[in-house]
Amino acid sequence: MNPFLRLLRFTRPYRGRLAAAFAWMVLYALGSAGLAKLIQNVFDEVLATGRNLLFVAGALIAASAAKAVGGYFSAYLMSDVGQRVVMDVRTRLFRHMLDQSAAFFARRSSGQLMSRITNDVGQIQQAVSETTCDLLRESLSLVGYVALLFYYDATLAFVFLCGAPLVVYPLARLGRLMRRTSRRSQEQLEHLSHVSAEAFTGHRIVKAFATEAREAGRFEVASNRLYRANMKMSAALSALPAIMEILGGLGMAAALWYGVHEIASGKLTPGQFTSFFAALFLMYGPAKKLSRVNANFQQASAASERIFEILDLHSEVEDRPGAVPLSGLLHEIEFRDVGFRYDDDRTGIILRGVSLAIRQGQTVAVVGRSGAGKTTLVNLLPRFYDVTSGAITIDGADIRDFTLRSLRSQIGIVTQETVLFDDTIAGNIAYGSSGAAPDAIEAAARAANAHAFIAAMPQGYQTVIGERGQRLSGGQRQRLAIARALLRNAPILILDEATSSLDAESERLVQEALGNLMANRTAIVIAHRLSTIRRADLIVVLERGRIVETGRHEELLERPGGDYARLYEMQLAAEQLRSE
Ligand SMILES: Nc1ncnc2c1ncn2[C@@H]1O[C@H](COP(=O)(O)OP(=O)(O)O)[C@@H](O)[C@H]1O
Ligand SMILES: [Mg+2]
Repeated sequence: MNPFLRLLRFTRPYRGRLAAAFAWMVLYALGSAGLAKLIQNVFDEVLATGRNLLFVAGALIAASAAKAVGGYFSAYLMSDVGQRVVMDVRTRLFRHMLDQSAAFFARRSSGQLMSRITNDVGQIQQAVSETTCDLLRESLSLVGYVALLFYYDATLAFVFLCGAPLVVYPLARLGRLMRRTSRRSQEQLEHLSHVSAEAFTGHRIVKAFATEAREAGRFEVASNRLYRANMKMSAALSALPAIMEILGGLGMAAALWYGVHEIASGKLTPGQFTSFFAALFLMYGPAKKLSRVNANFQQASAASERIFEILDLHSEVEDRPGAVPLSGLLHEIEFRDVGFRYDDDRTGIILRGVSLAIRQGQTVAVVGRSGAGKTTLVNLLPRFYDVTSGAITIDGADIRDFTLRSLRSQIGIVTQETVLFDDTIAGNIAYGSSGAAPDAIEAAARAANAHAFIAAMPQGYQTVIGERGQRLSGGQRQRLAIARALLRNAPILILDEATSSLDAESERLVQEALGNLMANRTAIVIAHRLSTIRRADLIVVLERGRIVETGRHEELLERPGGDYARLYEMQLAAEQLRSE
């Protein structure tokens, strides 16, 4: 099915408005045909005999008014429907994107996704309102004119209609070209959006490495490609009026030649012929508009195609039918022979045969070299990705049998990269715990060692921190993230290198905050600070996706030549070096 027609289903809720618009179009078409018909009365009655002047003048005004009023209201209503459809499609698309899995976002950049929501959806607006309006309104007018032609001279009218395929064929060809070039243009626009989003997000690095010229160059190349794609489209579009112009001229010359004979032989009065000729002449306007309809629809089809590419995706991670809510953790979390690979084959198998039991209330430290698969392992628990083989269970039940929402609500996460929103400090701490009382927010901030610096800010908890919290230091951001997790009060906690990017002073504060956070919770901690690791109930050493050792700190250290012992030595040396 044509993607644009599929998209037109979004107009269903607005059928009433469409029907009203259609009624106004009928009025518009009647006015148009009426004007052409009145030309005959002007010539044959008013000019030839001097009768009916008042009546014909009044009718002329009435027909013009019908055309004007019908044209205005139909355009207004159609534009309203178009805007509403765009609004609905946008909201639906945004929501659908948010529901996609982590893998979806790993494959696409935010610039690309934004381009679909703004540019591609914007493309269809014109098609739904203007183009559909043109199609219906001008077709109705054409019907009126054609009826008039047949009314005067059926043979002549028939001859002209036989010429119609001559017009339609090049339009169909051009339409197909439009679809292709329009798709390319949208792709280039998406690329442009991607390049600029990347440069803006990374503006610090761009400045630090003085790569402004390089980024500007990339943008220019992308911009130039867009220009070329757009010009291909323009070349096709601009050909349309030209084609219509030539065909119109030919048609009119033929009508004149034939009409002179008809008048001479007395079959038509000069007034009738003039009216016939005028109808033909007036058909040119609607025909020109209609000639663009196909091209515009093809353009909209290309955009719709790209919209449905996303809307037709199903998230890899979804609620199973019959999924039940998870209400909490009573006994244990278990990884049973878990295997995992990212769906692009490049990286191969990341985790294999990982088995691990975490009892309620325990703290488990996962250690291992960078790239060993630690982050991947903990991302499986909130189902950012689903296991490739094996299973993860909570109190014996597969986590895939729980609803995603309830599963994730039981898990608090603090990572190395804190994500803050352009909101107040209070709003950021209460993110995901809507309706939290100010007292509760402050209590969480105190436990996270964040209250002191927040209180020192100009507007305290109401201070707006800017996009991604750029006005805060790393340690401050980290403590806000911890406060957020504290307020969320989830029984299961994941800490992924939550302190690795901090200086000694903020680290002490953050460590203390983390201690408060971990109390009475089941925690999986990825850490390289020995102090954190030593306190863990269980240490898991991961190497190239396998668990190579598990045990408590003392047990593992006693294994001479063990992996943990080696990592410990390295870490000890590093920490000593730093404290010197
Ligand atoms: N989204 C992804 N797609 C494909 N491969 C990935 C992705 N994320 C991580 N990897 C690969 O998985 C391996 C383990 O990464 P990760 O779990 O982040 O390691 P760690 O946290 O232990 O440093 C790495 O080799 C990395 O290249
Ligand atoms: Mg990691």
